[in-house]
Amino acid sequence: MSKKFYITTPIYYPSAAPHIGHLYTTVACDAIARFKRMQGYDVMFLTGTDEHGQKIEQKAKEAGVTPKEYVDKIAGKFQKLWKYVNISYDRFIRTTDDYHEQSIKRIYEKLLEKGYLYKSEYKGKYCTPCESFWTESQLDPEGKCPECHREVKEATEEGYFFKLSAFSDKLEELLTNTDFVQPEWRAKELINNFIKPGLEDVCVTRTSFKWGISIPFDEKHIAYVWIDALSNYITALGYENDRYDDMKDFWPADVHMVAKDIMRFHALIWPAMLMALDLPLPKKLSVHGFINFNGVKMSKSIGNVVDPFILGERYGVDSIRYHILREMPFGSDSDYSNEIMINRINYDLANDFGNLVSRTVAMVDKYFGGTLPTDRQEEELDKELIGIAEALTPSVAKHIDETKLSVALTEIMAVVSRANKYIDETTPWILAKDEANRARLATVLYNLLETIRICTVLLTPFMPTVMPKALEQIGADENCTAYETLEKFGALPADVTVKKGEVLFPRLDVDTEIEFLNSVVAPNGGKKEIVEDEDLDKAGIISIDEFAKVKLRTAEVVACEKVKKSNKLLKLQLDDGRGGRQVVSGIAKWYKPEDLVGKKIVFVANLAPAKLCGEESQGMILACDCGEEVRVLFMDGDVPNGSVVR
Ligand code: MSP
Repeated sequence: MSKKFYITTPIYYPSAAPHIGHLYTTVACDAIARFKRMQGYDVMFLTGTDEHGQKIEQKAKEAGVTPKEYVDKIAGKFQKLWKYVNISYDRFIRTTDDYHEQSIKRIYEKLLEKGYLYKSEYKGKYCTPCESFWTESQLDPEGKCPECHREVKEATEEGYFFKLSAFSDKLEELLTNTDFVQPEWRAKELINNFIKPGLEDVCVTRTSFKWGISIPFDEKHIAYVWIDALSNYITALGYENDRYDDMKDFWPADVHMVAKDIMRFHALIWPAMLMALDLPLPKKLSVHGFINFNGVKMSKSIGNVVDPFILGERYGVDSIRYHILREMPFGSDSDYSNEIMINRINYDLANDFGNLVSRTVAMVDKYFGGTLPTDRQEEELDKELIGIAEALTPSVAKHIDETKLSVALTEIMAVVSRANKYIDETTPWILAKDEANRARLATVLYNLLETIRICTVLLTPFMPTVMPKALEQIGADENCTAYETLEKFGALPADVTVKKGEVLFPRLDVDTEIEFLNSVVAPNGGKKEIVEDEDLDKAGIISIDEFAKVKLRTAEVVACEKVKKSNKLLKLQLDDGRGGRQVVSGIAKWYKPEDLVGKKIVFVANLAPAKLCGEESQGMILACDCGEEVRVLFMDGDVPNGSVVR
């Protein structure tokens, strides 16, 4: 029997204008789903749209159509985007699908039968855009919605309550003693913010609007959108409906992936519902951060969205997929920037990967007419490259299982860089000058082709359009792309024939592209207008927008040594969650290198690089002057490297 793997994205509000913030979860799930299929799993990859609720009812009214007409018209928007960015979902659910509605009714009946629903009156603060009730203590400091910071209104209504409080201990146990929520520090956040203060029962029906699924035992009540929406993960498999019969194969889910704003629904209400229904719990809830633009969550209401169609048209969908997955450190936010994207495409894809393929193929073509001879001459030097290339696959697989996609990509690209270095070390163009080196030259080129093969196959789930072209260029047919062939050199035939092809990732002119992007992507870069205030400037006070220009982030000091020729400077290697950087700091008088290694610090990430005593410094760590002394700022607790400080 084949191994099963079930992965889900959240279901999207169809009224949202899709932007690259939405893209992140779905592209990440797609890369995982493709990787798992490559590993031989029978994969179920689910996505869909969340179509009920007051917001839709209001929008339909404004448009002068029924809610169903409204959602039918707009539901295709997300499908169009997913098709465009090559999302290989297996099933698409709409919460207005008949079979889903049938299941939701049964779920309410079951919860009532089992004694987990009771009728009462709800008084609370309701945020209409988020469709969420909040308690007084959960509101933001201005008494507004803690999620979207808009006005909330006092609301009272008769409703059925789900006994969430009855699951408090079990949920605490789940969050404390299992690795259900990842990253793990998110689980602590949930315990401290929700479980410790005391879980309240949740009102799970509404009477204040009509657009939803009516409750079979009391028809004027309709299902609360979150019960309706969360249940999609099982109704899409056929739970309590006649449409599908896949629960036995695919439940419990292997991964639910969500962004941090909807974590609490998935980590508290959802497991409690499943416990109430006597169903097993999903294995993992993987929580990622937001794609921000200028430090603020990308969202239509703020006006700082980046349109995936515009980027895809200009740079190719694979480059965009790569960029967002490479940039987002697991669990933390990542800041979208036109500059970073263009540089990423240039450095990683055009220079490192694209060049490696084109140089290697060109050399096989030039020196051997496109087909390698089979004589070989190995040297000690080859072992390191072969070793890291053969060790890559299990390591990448582990990162994929932990949904650490940026780490997986960093590792693959490190092997690509190593292969480029191997070209410089082996100097094939010098070997080619002497016929006596023929076997050695063929060996070098074969090793390069094999390294490219392994890296390219591993990159295929991330970039499914371009990677097959790269495989074709190095002469890899389907026999050399199977997952089983990736841990050992030798799958390409010894007399492999390469095929020169198109440039995989054309190099971009940075200035031209930045000018283009500034004109089409979120006009004004999504920034709010900065109002000049002379009095504030005179007093030396800066606005929040000015402060936001300084990018502060956390990092871990992974190595540290004194700078030669200086008794003031230390050279620190930082793990900044984005591939690492070196920073030089004038603190040698107060700190020994070993005082710093393993510590988490805060540093300025967007300071222009400088050379100090011949050493490049890419940023500055924060420290304070305390009289004669200087003290470094260390982080409180274990925060992920690369977290934004503000
Ligand atoms: N309908 C609910 C989910 C129900 S799941 C049972 C919903 N929909 S949404 O369309 O508003 O958002 C879908 C997902 O996109 C959420 O995980 C949301 O956090 C995510 N994102 C929206 N903007 C985002 C960024 N700027 N960055 C990363 N993810 C973001 O919530």
